[in-house]
Amino acid sequence: MTDRVPDASLPALAASVDESRQWARLMGMATLGAIPEDGVNRAALTELDRQARRLLIEWAQEAGLTVSIDDMANLFLRHEGTDPAAEPVLTGSHMDSQPNGGRFDGIWGVVAGLEAVQAIREAGLTTRRPIEIVAWTNEEGGRFAPGCMGSMAWSGHSAPNTWDAVTDLNGITFRAALDEQLALEADLPRRPLGPVGPQRPVAYVEAHIEQGPRLENDLLDIGVVTGIQGSRWFVVDIKGRSDHAGTSPVSLRQDAVQDMVRAINALNTLTHDPSDVLRFTVGRIEVHPNTSNSVADHVRFTIDLRHPEADILREKGDAIAATVQSALQHCTATVTERFNALPTAFPALVPDAVEQAAHALGLRPLRMPSGAFHDAQFMVPVCPTGMIFVPSKGGISHHPSEYTSPGQLAAGTRVLAATLLELANR
Ligand code: GLV
Ligand code: MN
Ligand code: MN
Repeated sequence: MTDRVPDASLPALAASVDESRQWARLMGMATLGAIPEDGVNRAALTELDRQARRLLIEWAQEAGLTVSIDDMANLFLRHEGTDPAAEPVLTGSHMDSQPNGGRFDGIWGVVAGLEAVQAIREAGLTTRRPIEIVAWTNEEGGRFAPGCMGSMAWSGHSAPNTWDAVTDLNGITFRAALDEQLALEADLPRRPLGPVGPQRPVAYVEAHIEQGPRLENDLLDIGVVTGIQGSRWFVVDIKGRSDHAGTSPVSLRQDAVQDMVRAINALNTLTHDPSDVLRFTVGRIEVHPNTSNSVADHVRFTIDLRHPEADILREKGDAIAATVQSALQHCTATVTERFNALPTAFPALVPDAVEQAAHALGLRPLRMPSGAFHDAQFMVPVCPTGMIFVPSKGGISHHPSEYTSPGQLAAGTRVLAATLLELANR
């Protein structure tokens, strides 16, 4: 590929990325949902999520960008190109967090998009194409499962009403929370949902923390993401019968917790992988009636299964229901799949542009796959897609101690700015 980053503009662009402004914004966002030890709990479509969106909108408007929202409450900030009719380049990520999350997962990609576009403008550069920054609704799936609802609906992967009846732990439906959000943001111009007409992007670039240890271990600055491993989510409901913990003979019980233990043991055997590539997680267990001296009559647990190869993910995932059924001794169970994101390879265009931008900025890139899922996964059928990773301290993520330094983040934003500039001038 030829070097299309305008070299002459690169030093000015790099200098315009404001490390302390970006850091201050991230720390400002981290106060919204702050939990002990620098953590963040900002679930999708909550009051805290709304406050974070409002803050972002304020910064975007100050920077001269226009704001709009779609029917999934995906939020868009638009920098106009010299040819406003040209299709845009899209960048962004998500603003919701895990319940015990950190300060960078998702939110950095949104703040970095804004910083990159501001840097382009403040360096006095123009782009032929518009650049749009998106904050996708509910990427984490912590409150309403699964994750990536905003991007799945936007890209056409799933119908937008697919999750209407999904409830959070308080019984609030996704539809009710979404409608409330849209009503509270009724002042924002509504745009059509999806890559329709002139909204269809020519490329999508998402900046994100690595969430793993490779960049740090190899002393590298930038991950050039080549693709994303596949994920499948299931929910298992085990039905038994409640009984007195002191009086009912163990042999006569229909104890949903004991059958859950048998099912999870059988699933551990099914998913055992000496090479540790297949990832199997039970992350949430709900027990009813959840009291010490009663036998449980209902257990619901979640399964998160991941692998980079579609065949293995299919084979192991398809065996889950039968494995659960054959492990049960006294109860009945249903297994429901609620997320299936196939492994994805990014075509060369965006990764090449990211790698070239990193080299041009004197940074050390590494081509690597993503173990986490991202909204970018669902953009692949829509347009050339790629991601930029920055190092995560100790590889830790989905935890309050998640950390990337201000300088490492600014380096990632410089790569994003150079990549956007290049793509938006094609
Ligand atoms: C995203 O948060 C993931 O779980 O991979
Ligand atoms: Mn994320
Ligand atoms: Mn996450």
